[in-house]
Amino acid sequence: MGDLGRMLKESWSLVEEHQDKVAGYFYARMFLSHPDLRDLFPVHMDVQRARLLNAIVTAVQTLEDPEKFEEWLRALGRDHRKFHVEPEHYEVVGGALIEAMRTYAGEQWSVEYDQAWADAYAKIASVMLKGAEADTNPPYWYAEVVGHERRASDIAVFTVQPMQPLDFRAGQYVSIECPRIQPRLWRTYSIANAPRRDNTLEFHVRSVGAGWVSSALVRRLEVGDMVRVASPMGTMNLDRRSTRDTVFVAGGTGLAPIKSLLEELTRYNRTRWVHVFFGARTREDLYDLAELNRLAARYPWLSVVTACSDDPTYPGEQGNISDVVARYGPWSEHDFFVSGSGPMVKDTLKTLAELQVPSIRVKYDSFSDF
Ligand SMILES: Cc1cc2nc3c(=O)[nH]c(=O)nc-3n(C[C@H](O)[C@H](O)[C@H](O)COP(=O)(O)OP(=O)(O)OC[C@H]3O[C@@H](n4cnc5c(N)ncnc54)[C@H](O)[C@@H]3O)c2cc1C
Ligand code: HEM
Repeated sequence: MGDLGRMLKESWSLVEEHQDKVAGYFYARMFLSHPDLRDLFPVHMDVQRARLLNAIVTAVQTLEDPEKFEEWLRALGRDHRKFHVEPEHYEVVGGALIEAMRTYAGEQWSVEYDQAWADAYAKIASVMLKGAEADTNPPYWYAEVVGHERRASDIAVFTVQPMQPLDFRAGQYVSIECPRIQPRLWRTYSIANAPRRDNTLEFHVRSVGAGWVSSALVRRLEVGDMVRVASPMGTMNLDRRSTRDTVFVAGGTGLAPIKSLLEELTRYNRTRWVHVFFGARTREDLYDLAELNRLAARYPWLSVVTACSDDPTYPGEQGNISDVVARYGPWSEHDFFVSGSGPMVKDTLKTLAELQVPSIRVKYDSFSDF
């Protein structure tokens, strides 16, 4: 870690234990000086009060070297247009952040810390702004819900028809907002199909515990609703030049981007063996198995293995999907794609490392940090 990184971490540790207060001060400062900014944020700030603050602090601390994360930051900047963020807002937010930290750090705060945060924030903001400026697409697309199907008590598969064409690559994800049910709350969901002629997009959503957006999308979204969809992001794409056989590992609705990649492969693959490992807690959660089996029956290069971790009478494989993958193989020559919850992805990456799969051949999307 360089000097800048050390200083950012050191200074954050002075306020870390008062995070809630820092967040409160940060928003109050921002909204008092610029009341118009309040309209950019969700109505119920209490549920996710520290979201932006945490996001910036994490970004500033982990992205010590912004060039390394240039592409991600450009995409983040493009994506921020959906919040109606304007270039002049960056300075306001950066100023409020540093002032909030300075206020709670007390006497140990120094001018050097001030400068370190200002420099790191400015670098990141400038890359985000460049990304936003260079984008010729609209900040979001309106899309009508044209199909909605409950596949399990907490899982829905739904399809939307964007009002204008929206270009994306198989394996990418988008942020979605449903203004009728949860205005100004955006969450990311993977597109579950490869680009189609009719432009429709399919999503697979599992409602999580106290989740605001996922439960609305599963339980309250209806055909005819309008949602907003922001620019596609993500780099979990197929390398068409690769001749290696491929393994897809999906946990629950982590199947969504895998389905998209699989659909793309059905359009051109003749030579690569493809193995899908699809795991869930119970058989009910293997919500898209019929479709996977249909694909496997049609394409001789495709095989599907399913597993349940909490369904002892399930006739397929038993256990966590990462352990199941390890029972097959050898895998050291394959390309891997992994997608699902944080723990599922973490376990699978660990297993693959133990199986000597080079990390350069593994692409993944983790749906959560936990
Ligand atoms: C790149 C990417 C792609 C994604 N694609 C999909 C997808 O295709 N399908 C899909 O269903 N989800 C997907 N997600 C997850 C999705 O973005 C949301 O995080 C998820 O739906 C929860 O949002 P929420 O508003 O319902 O919950 P929030 O309101 O954000 O959270 C409410 C509460 O639930 C907890 N919580 C949040 N997520 C989880 C979780 N996964 N497990 C347990 N508790 C949780 C939070 O800690 C909080 O206490 C993806 C995430 C990422 C980063
Ligand atoms: C260095 C600058 C910034 C970084 C790194 C950054 C990063 C992020 C990230 C990662 C998120 C989380 C997205 C998510 O939770 O899905 C987020 C949310 C958000 N950002 Fe930024 N951001 C920056 C600047 C700004 C600015 C200048 C504004 C303008 C006010 C802004 C407005 C928002 C809003 C409104 C949200 C949604 C918050 C919520 O849902 O509660 N951001 N930001």
